[in-house]
Amino acid sequence: MNIFQHMETAGHEQLIFNHDPETGLKAIIALHNTRQGPALGGCRQKPYESEEEAVLDVLQLSRAMTRKFVSVNLPFGGGKAVILDLGHEGRAAGFRSLGRMIATLNGRYGTGEDVGSTPEDMVSIREETDHVFGLPENLGGAGNPGPATAAGVLGSLSACLHEIFGSEDLRGRSIAVQGLGEVGFCLAVEARRRGAVVLGADLSSRRTAMAKAEGIEIVSPDRVHEAGCDIYSPCALSGGLSESTIPRIRARIIVGSANNQLKTPGDGEALARREILWVPDFIASSGAAIFLSTKIPNDRSGTLDLIEGIIRENTREVLRLAREQGISPSEAGIQLTDKRLKKSCKDRPIHVGTGSIDLPPLAPLRAEKTKEG
Ligand code: PHE
Repeated sequence: MNIFQHMETAGHEQLIFNHDPETGLKAIIALHNTRQGPALGGCRQKPYESEEEAVLDVLQLSRAMTRKFVSVNLPFGGGKAVILDLGHEGRAAGFRSLGRMIATLNGRYGTGEDVGSTPEDMVSIREETDHVFGLPENLGGAGNPGPATAAGVLGSLSACLHEIFGSEDLRGRSIAVQGLGEVGFCLAVEARRRGAVVLGADLSSRRTAMAKAEGIEIVSPDRVHEAGCDIYSPCALSGGLSESTIPRIRARIIVGSANNQLKTPGDGEALARREILWVPDFIASSGAAIFLSTKIPNDRSGTLDLIEGIIRENTREVLRLAREQGISPSEAGIQLTDKRLKKSCKDRPIHVGTGSIDLPPLAPLRAEKTKEG
């Protein structure tokens, strides 16, 4: 693979390969954009089949983070870390090691939770650097961002339901959730509480047992995308919407929290041709970005409502643009964010780490949005 070509095409600034000889940690950090502000984005830990796969993942994930921040008007760029090997000294030492690597960036990058990392892992990172978000609540942190991401997906879903059925009401609707992790589980439970019939799938029997206890009907992970439901919600790993899955999808709406859901950019058009309404993942899944990158008030449920509202509005805007211009929502989401990004980065140099990352409060975010229209 030609790494510089990838970086050039997508506008990445920096790709950092980290190896700690002391612990054996192997991790890659990608900084997509710091001209908007320090790069933020979670740290993913999952088995990668090759270094190439990990490089592509971290490049794509960090770019998606930039789009998330742009979509919600927050002064940050996108970054991401992927861990290929935590090393031979155990989990806590591995994450501390990653913390030291992050510390060397002096505030150019801040991390948080992602697939495969928890608030406890953030505590290990915090031993080495301040540039970590999503610490446990009892340590004064924001805690697990899963419920916030789920709230955002629900906001997006409301906008879609209105577009397709003329009502945001979830009662009597059916939804199939792929992946019952921190986000998918919350989403499934909340959708059921709001009156939907909920199907769910996960590779882990522990997660499916938890979901079953909440009244969620369990289906096979290889067939969940084919479920005869109104809504399909990908909340697992990247690339689930592809040439092979798209023809089998029966839902009218697809909205979920997984990052980079399209296997190839053309899959967005394939969904539009099948008249399936798909919300770009970087719009639907920006809840954690808002939650971890702002000083959130103590009122948890108020915060989740606010996040749900912001993302409902953003989704409406994307769907409106798609309708007006006769383009797919996929294209509309990219247009909207890339245009804004270009404008806000104009004549701005890359961010040099200043040793600190200041988070804006959550409230003005909304004020600025309404001002913009
Ligand atoms: N994993 C979250 C996401 O993909 C992460 C996040 C971590 C956001 C740290 C901001 C800061 O959106």
